[in-house]
Amino acid sequence: MEFNVKSGHPEKQRTACIVVGVYEPRRLSEAAKRIDNISQRHISSILRRGDLEGKLGQTLLLHNVPGTLADRVLLVGCGRERDLEDSQYRKIIIKAIHTLHETGSMEAVCYLTDLNIRGRDTEWRIRQAIEVAHSSMYVFDQLKTQKESTRRPLRKIIFSVASRRELPIAEHASHEARKIADGIKLAKDLCNLPGNHCTPTYLVDQAKKLCYLHENLNCEVLTKTELEKEGFNALLAVAKGSEEAPYLITLKYKGVKKAVHPIVLVGKGVTFDSGGISIKPSKQMDEMKFDMSGAASVISVLSIVAELQLPLNVIGVIPTVENMPSGKAVKPGDVVTSLSGQTIEVLNTDAEGRLILCDALTYVERYKPEVVIDIATLTGACVIALGHHAHGLMSNYHPLMTELLNAGKFTGDRAWELPLWNEYKDQLKSNCADIANIGGRDGGAITAGCFLAQFTKKYHWAHIDIAGTAWTSGKKKSATGRPVPLLIQYLINRCCTEAPPEIY
Ligand code: BES
Ligand code: MN
Ligand code: ZN
Repeated sequence: MEFNVKSGHPEKQRTACIVVGVYEPRRLSEAAKRIDNISQRHISSILRRGDLEGKLGQTLLLHNVPGTLADRVLLVGCGRERDLEDSQYRKIIIKAIHTLHETGSMEAVCYLTDLNIRGRDTEWRIRQAIEVAHSSMYVFDQLKTQKESTRRPLRKIIFSVASRRELPIAEHASHEARKIADGIKLAKDLCNLPGNHCTPTYLVDQAKKLCYLHENLNCEVLTKTELEKEGFNALLAVAKGSEEAPYLITLKYKGVKKAVHPIVLVGKGVTFDSGGISIKPSKQMDEMKFDMSGAASVISVLSIVAELQLPLNVIGVIPTVENMPSGKAVKPGDVVTSLSGQTIEVLNTDAEGRLILCDALTYVERYKPEVVIDIATLTGACVIALGHHAHGLMSNYHPLMTELLNAGKFTGDRAWELPLWNEYKDQLKSNCADIANIGGRDGGAITAGCFLAQFTKKYHWAHIDIAGTAWTSGKKKSATGRPVPLLIQYLINRCCTEAPPEIY
């Protein structure tokens, strides 16, 4: 779909549909007022008759409104004006897009971006509108032989900018939003693709394809033999039960010529998690195809960073395996020596994410990172703790925690802090190795974080548990593309907070 921005009055638009807001109770937004004025109170008289109260998400499609040049006018209920916040704004945009798509307007000019949202400027409103609109049109039908099609689909939407003066800002926001939205689609496609298609080898191919497209993006892949030579024994232990070859993928983006310390992202890439010998119950086991969502978010973020040519150095590292039971699989009670040299007792083969991550986290020390952020669908316990709205966020460095929480708030892709206190660490004691890979039921998301913390002492680090947020469950199971919005915002913010050059 095509997105654009422009400034101009609604009554002057020659288009299939103009979209304007109506607040509750029956109060017209600025754009709605202009149409009301030109049409001799056509809108107010309809509202007076009781056709639309203005409640959040209500819609009313009008045809041939006098005085306008558009085929239709779509009224969208915005709720009470003083309640209009980020989440309501997103709902209004989604509702408008779906209605347009289903009612035959192939093109529209939308004035909802002119609404007042507390604390949000034009740049934010345009960015969110485009990202949300793009996202709400997503379908995964690659594997359907009969694709559903709409007879007159929405093809182009133009968002209004209230003043001409703000057009350059809006155009920048629109450019950024389109690149981000495309990246989010890439993440969703990778996640939604089932385990027999999206294997570790497939992820390697995708990473290579991306580097082929971008000059300053490079890819390195460690194969099983190389991983053995280096001593990635924790990662290899997980891969042992599967016929699929394991890999460690490294994507390097160089946006700064100087040798500045890179920001490193590490994504869990378990392309299917059966649990291994500690096998999972069969109910909803299909959803474990999403266990590579962390990896997908890293690939997606690197592609967006390269598209936007951000002035940063970013490295993405993806340990990728399939977790399966077999005669060769790692068994409960086995002890492995991780890349760090620490020994791990594998008490549960279903706690595999931390095993592949700990070796990747040790490996990235060599890049002398500014910060390291790992992203993983790590624990069911995180879903119990925070449900499906917030990512679980843990960090050994407070400023990083704050920056990530803020990036989440800005984009609506929110995270919430969980503690990494030493007291929790005791739950990971093993009587025959340095550490056990599980810490019992209590505080399971936190003990998983504590496990990783044992491998990240040499740098500033944060861990994002996306088990509850990376996909929606059930019959309509689908990837959400999270936490790509949070991560890319964090990186965009980093570009402007670079230390100023030294003054002599
Ligand atoms: N991939 C799962 C975590 C998960 C569970 C994500 C449910 C999304 C929904 C992870 O590998 C896992 O199996 N974790 C175990 C850890 C346990 C054995 C300590 C879990 O959460 O049950
Ligand atoms: Mn598991
Ligand atoms: Zn897993």
